[in-house]
Amino acid sequence: MTAILTRPAWTTDLELEIFDKLLDKYAPHLPKKRCLRRATPTQEPRSPETDEERENFYRFRVAGAAHDLFIVQVCAKIIDSFPDPELQLFLSRQIGDDGAHAQNTRLRAQAISGRDPIKDIQKQVQKHWDYMGDLPIRNWQGFLAFELHYELHIVALLFINSSTSKINDPDSAKFSAERILPDEAVHRLGVVDWWQRKFDQASPAEKEDLIAQVIEADEEGQRRRNPYLRDHWQLSQKAIGIEIDDLPVIYDAWRQEVLSYFLDIPISRLPKLVSVND
Ligand SMILES: [Fe+2]
Ligand SMILES: [Fe+2]
Repeated sequence: MTAILTRPAWTTDLELEIFDKLLDKYAPHLPKKRCLRRATPTQEPRSPETDEERENFYRFRVAGAAHDLFIVQVCAKIIDSFPDPELQLFLSRQIGDDGAHAQNTRLRAQAISGRDPIKDIQKQVQKHWDYMGDLPIRNWQGFLAFELHYELHIVALLFINSSTSKINDPDSAKFSAERILPDEAVHRLGVVDWWQRKFDQASPAEKEDLIAQVIEADEEGQRRRNPYLRDHWQLSQKAIGIEIDDLPVIYDAWRQEVLSYFLDIPISRLPKLVSVND
């Protein structure tokens, strides 16, 4: 029996457990869960009020829609290059879900700003293509790195968004809680499942090789994404008021945890990874 079959499944509970552990270690002053900090209704996020707040919030929502639409474009491009019906079914769900997330975000941004953001969204999608290059569609290793970066490595940021944001739109928050959060948990699990099916079939020597290939592609993804991530965090701070001082160290540590689980090797055996600050 390999260790991969005996360790805990990748669930949202496990994610929260890991995240809380990282907060204790790196940022104990940050709230673990929204309810702990928001003892009174005045601490609930409020809607953007001034023109400047609405404009910043609009840009933040455009970035969110672009993240989802980029996922749709990458998965749609690559889906027929994998002769794996299991993976195709998963990707078809991901395309439908992330497309619906992008569309909802687009409509909320339109309601708040009074203008259709679709052109602004596509401009931001093009930036993802520019900085990621052909990595997401180059081969399965590049596509897996793309999925890791766009679905799993961002989770610590999502937790910090939800526990420290000060501005939000109630309709977006409702859609997020009812639709986006459960969908994204399915997406993360789907990526883990696909990889484990591939990994479980490999011999020990092949496993070493697979691990090296995934780390190489994931590191390339990190280098390509660094400027975007740092800009996006600044925008998130400006638009919704999240705390970003501790994000780099938490992001790096979270990514280590994901790779350690994914590749089934202890963190101490991972090579030194590219940091978001590099
Ligand atoms: Fe999504
Ligand atoms: Fe997703």
